[in-house]
Amino acid sequence: MGLDDLNSGLGLWTRRRLLQMGAAGAVTLSAVDLAKAAEATAHHSMMEVPFAKREPRVALIGTGGRGTSLLGLLLAADAQMVALCDIVKEKAGHAAGMVEAAGQKKPELYTDGPHHYQALCQRKDIDLVIVATPWSWHYEMAIAAMKNGKDVAIEVPGVTTMEECWSIVRTSEETRKHCMMLENCCYGYNETLILRMVHGGEFGDLLYGEGAYIHDLRDELFSTKGEGLWRRTEHTRHDGNLYPSHGLGPVANYMGIQRGDKFGHIVSMSSPQRGLDKWRKDHLQPGDPRWAEKYICGDMNTSLIKTAKGLTITVKHAVSSPHPYDRINLIAGTKGIFEDYPPRIYIEGVNKEDTFGSLDEWKKYDHPLWSRQGEIAKKVGGHGGMDFIMLYRLLECVRNGIAPDMDVYDCAAWSAIAPLSYTSVARGSAPVEFPDFTGGKWEKRAVSAIATQA
Ligand SMILES: NC(=O)c1ccc[n+]([C@@H]2O[C@H](COP(=O)([O-])OP(=O)(O)OC[C@H]3O[C@@H](n4cnc5c(N)ncnc54)[C@H](O)[C@@H]3O)[C@@H](O)[C@H]2O)c1
Repeated sequence: MGLDDLNSGLGLWTRRRLLQMGAAGAVTLSAVDLAKAAEATAHHSMMEVPFAKREPRVALIGTGGRGTSLLGLLLAADAQMVALCDIVKEKAGHAAGMVEAAGQKKPELYTDGPHHYQALCQRKDIDLVIVATPWSWHYEMAIAAMKNGKDVAIEVPGVTTMEECWSIVRTSEETRKHCMMLENCCYGYNETLILRMVHGGEFGDLLYGEGAYIHDLRDELFSTKGEGLWRRTEHTRHDGNLYPSHGLGPVANYMGIQRGDKFGHIVSMSSPQRGLDKWRKDHLQPGDPRWAEKYICGDMNTSLIKTAKGLTITVKHAVSSPHPYDRINLIAGTKGIFEDYPPRIYIEGVNKEDTFGSLDEWKKYDHPLWSRQGEIAKKVGGHGGMDFIMLYRLLECVRNGIAPDMDVYDCAAWSAIAPLSYTSVARGSAPVEFPDFTGGKWEKRAVSAIATQA
């Protein structure tokens, strides 16, 4: 491998910069960065790699709340369901009933314990595996799917550690199989419209953005079924942003993260944790085993990300205090600003001075996916239709042999926010650098396919 090959993996460190730095600088680089670069360029990128064109045979692992919701939407989009897996037989059985009610053959069920998904992944008649299990299972299920020759789509928040982020990238590159995160908020009506406005130049040069997951989940976290069985535990493990991608994904798309820009570094800080303690005090009987838990995740985590090109992003996470639902979904540039919840827009020279206007005036930027599929999306539902649009689009990409809109590099970079925020919080909000999962290819990459669809 020559120096130029290595430079393609180094991204910012061009041959000229290496020479300008002189021998001493180059020695430092060769010790650390060149090794990383060699590793990053060891495999071919999965950017813009099309799915093998076919009518995908689909399997679903995890038939709980989210899994059955996704299944209903997959069936509405005529996906062919081959196999279902859950550790709870009744849940898998209920989901199988949904498949049969849609007129399909009864899918094969995998319900013999927590590792039975491996047998599902070994089947030869599956092309695409959807993973909707608790967070701690996403990684190993994604790896098993790819290593057995399947494309895989995992639920948010993707994977949970930096090692897992690197591992899904390497496994996707080695196996040539896609690993994407099912970040449904990127397909919301407002989000897709604003993305097209950004690319239409309506906001000018972008400056800053803001995203959030503010959702009062206290009842759900203490439930004795569904997410209450596992999600509260995450609040005993980490202090930071546990669930960043709903707010961040759309803003990353507006800014072209991995497509001309990249996350540079993050600083993160958390408020005190009070919400889950208070809920427990108000609702639990003495002697309840949940009194033994120690919650360490601050009720409001605020992280700031600086991109390589200097833009700033605020990401918030708050699920354990009273607050109406809010993803903020803000993007601002030299010509104007959009902010959601409720949606409002101000474009200089268009809207009355100092006054927000309505998004309804920008319907010419309606996304083609919503123009084509919006009616059915609203009818079948899934967070106002965006879940259907996401799955319809995923199936469309496979059916037509197109690269996925969101790939393993997006999955790794968006997943990385959580562990990097934990590190920053633990270090007193010190800045923490993002790695470059793309091996330097982020800078020259074309804009997101969601933005450019006609
Ligand atoms: N994108 C969204 O809007 C959205 C909404 C809700 C949940 N989610 C995500 O979906 C995932 C699932 O959440 P949920 O609300 O459905 O939780 P849930 O607890 O209702 O469902 C999880 C299911 O996984 C099963 N499971 C657990 N371990 C398993 C294993 N080893 N093998 C097979 N099955 C196993 C459980 O029995 C359960 O049925 C989570 O990652 C969550 O963050 C995303």
